[in-house]
Amino acid sequence: MNWDFEQIEKDMREDAGKISSPAQLEEFRIKYLGRKGLISQIYASLAALPKEEKPIVGKQANNLRRLIEQIIKEKKGAVSQISETSDAACFIDVTIPGVAPVQGHKHILTQTIEEICALFERLGFVIHDGPEIETEFHNFTALNIPVDHPSRDAFDTFYLEQEDKENKGRYLLLRSHTSPGQIRIMKQNKPPFAVVIPGRVYRPDAVDASHSFMFHQIEGLLVDKDVRFSHLKGLLSVFCKRFFGEDIKMRLRPHFFPFTEPSAEVDISCYICKGEGCSVCGRKGWLEIMGCGLVHPKVFEAAGYKKNEYTGLAFGLGVERIAMLKHGIHDIRLFYENDKRFVTQF
Ligand code: DAH
Repeated sequence: MNWDFEQIEKDMREDAGKISSPAQLEEFRIKYLGRKGLISQIYASLAALPKEEKPIVGKQANNLRRLIEQIIKEKKGAVSQISETSDAACFIDVTIPGVAPVQGHKHILTQTIEEICALFERLGFVIHDGPEIETEFHNFTALNIPVDHPSRDAFDTFYLEQEDKENKGRYLLLRSHTSPGQIRIMKQNKPPFAVVIPGRVYRPDAVDASHSFMFHQIEGLLVDKDVRFSHLKGLLSVFCKRFFGEDIKMRLRPHFFPFTEPSAEVDISCYICKGEGCSVCGRKGWLEIMGCGLVHPKVFEAAGYKKNEYTGLAFGLGVERIAMLKHGIHDIRLFYENDKRFVTQF
């Protein structure tokens, strides 16, 4: 067979001129350099040629092959650039509305804790925390809670299997309130001081719409010389107005807590019915929001303070309860389920 190398080169250059994508380049390579491509066919035909023609045709075929390889190399660079800049997938249509990234935010309980703590910070309080695993001493004894008090019962407190190293025969527990933080702060600091202690507390309650085995409290403690009940009342009424609204009324109802004397429960006028009486306040017109009182002398004694040296005020509130009242949430379980339909509302 006679090969017209001039024509072949002409056709080949024409083919090469049409290459504009990596796929077309590959097609071109297969056509000329593939196993059954033109160059292979030329080499295969050499065997049948007269002896003196073989080296001439062979040389021409080699030259052609080198030329094609050179062209493929050059085209490779060019088409890869083309595909990067003009490939349909890379085309940016600036008129299409953007996809906004989903932005998270703080959980309503965290927001409530931060809001309450910030209010007290503005009144000069400092935020502290305390351990969730506590001793019986801090959780009960130092708070003047008698040994036979029902809250010490295993039905009302989660006891751990770990023994309290400093108190043999006594077991560690999950704190059932944030009040043990009071004892730790008093032991570590010299008055005057004012602290708020937010955190989780645990009680083995059956879970229902208003009970959970874990919830959050914020404890408040102010210790100084000559702290009076009027200071407590003034402080809490400022807090209630700033947190619930200026038109909210506050009242203190006498109550009993072992670690304060006198003690009171704090009510606010129902923000829904404005005190008229509705289903949220149980027709009373008032909502209970926290416990408070003046620090009991026995508590100062347990913290190692000299008798009558200091006076103090304390209060404790349930964060879930306050958030439920403020936002009209009817079931405490909603806080912990992390259902987006709930979480994203706040
Ligand atoms: N620790 C109490 C509870 O869990 C709440 C409480 C009441 C805290 C009165 C106080 C207080 O500091 O003075 O029910």
